[in-house]
Amino acid sequence: MADSAPLLSVRDLDVTFATRHGPVRAVDSLSFDVRPGRTLGIVGESGSGKSVTSLAVMGLHTGARVTGSVTLDGRELIGLGERELNTLRGRRMAMIFQDPLSSLHPYYTVGEQIAEHHRVHFRSRRAAARERAVEALAEVGIPEPRRRAGEYPHQFSGGMRQRVMIAMALVCEPDLLIADEPTTALDVTVQAQILELIARLQQERGLSVVMITHDLGVVARVAHDVLVMYGGRAVEHAPVDALFAAPAHPYTQGLLDSLPRLDDPDDAPLRAIPGSPPSLLDPSPGCAFAPRCPRAAVGPAEERARCTTERPSLGGPDGHPAACHFPAYEGVAP
Ligand SMILES: Nc1ncnc2c1ncn2[C@@H]1O[C@H](COP(=O)(O)OP(=O)(O)OP(=O)(O)O)[C@@H](O)[C@H]1O
Ligand code: SF4
Ligand SMILES: [Mg+2]
Repeated sequence: MADSAPLLSVRDLDVTFATRHGPVRAVDSLSFDVRPGRTLGIVGESGSGKSVTSLAVMGLHTGARVTGSVTLDGRELIGLGERELNTLRGRRMAMIFQDPLSSLHPYYTVGEQIAEHHRVHFRSRRAAARERAVEALAEVGIPEPRRRAGEYPHQFSGGMRQRVMIAMALVCEPDLLIADEPTTALDVTVQAQILELIARLQQERGLSVVMITHDLGVVARVAHDVLVMYGGRAVEHAPVDALFAAPAHPYTQGLLDSLPRLDDPDDAPLRAIPGSPPSLLDPSPGCAFAPRCPRAAVGPAEERARCTTERPSLGGPDGHPAACHFPAYEGVAP
């Protein structure tokens, strides 16, 4: 499976917003693949470009300049017209957003909304689409699906609404599911249930999944591969086990160090990465992580000056590249 051709292939993706203060390059030269039946976790702090990336894949940016290449099953999506994109969205690729209320219409029942989605893409008859909506609600574990199909979004709890979103995303049987922080607003038990649900549906249907999150715990649970983003760029990309066992980039190391550990005393302070994310309006000529990087301060000054003058590109071993002048690979001291 790992060697099959990618379903989704992103190459040199750039997304730039024109703002009053100047251009904001929210995604910068990003490349990744997602193979059939695999889950790619995209992680990074707030503002690192995760959502902008997913919206670019779905062709949902209206006010931004998007360049590079996004192919789904070999078909280029960048530059496609709205009508063709609309056909692909839902039918071949679907997205679950962080806040289900913003994507569900308050005045229609959830059953009507899921059925309408099915009707648009399959031109199905009303009764058949309604039946399919009830089945979809049952598949995502909503009790009494026939009765609940007749209820409105506000009558569902947060976790149940997220299940409705998953039912809506999957009712047209897409090949690719992009889940943008699908569990952030939920308590841990419901979060675990939703992640299990996505994993089960993925296995049953051979779905490819892009799981966007700022939570490495979520990534550890569901992802096969991980892309770590910082300031709109990829800083590390690796299979999940390799990333957790031996993070090469100091930013990934910092994210892992900030995960709570079982042997932490109750009153242990959180180990957040000091400093704040970089400005995208005025990017530094060197490494965007330099002001926060513990590694940049170690070693001969003339060597480490590269950190502030020369932007590191993504490189290193095949299958585990990192964008750092002094990456920590196993057996190689940074
Ligand atoms: N429409 C826009 N106009 C200008 N800048 C934007 C726009 N949308 C996003 N940005 C900027 O792009 C950057 C990346 O935003 P994005 O929403 O992708 O972050 P994120 O990684 O998803 O963060 P979070 O974890 O908070 O969801 C941010 O600096 C944001 O301010
Ligand atoms: S290039 Fe320098 S500043 Fe950037 S992550 Fe590597 S060591 Fe740190
Ligand atoms: Mg986001």
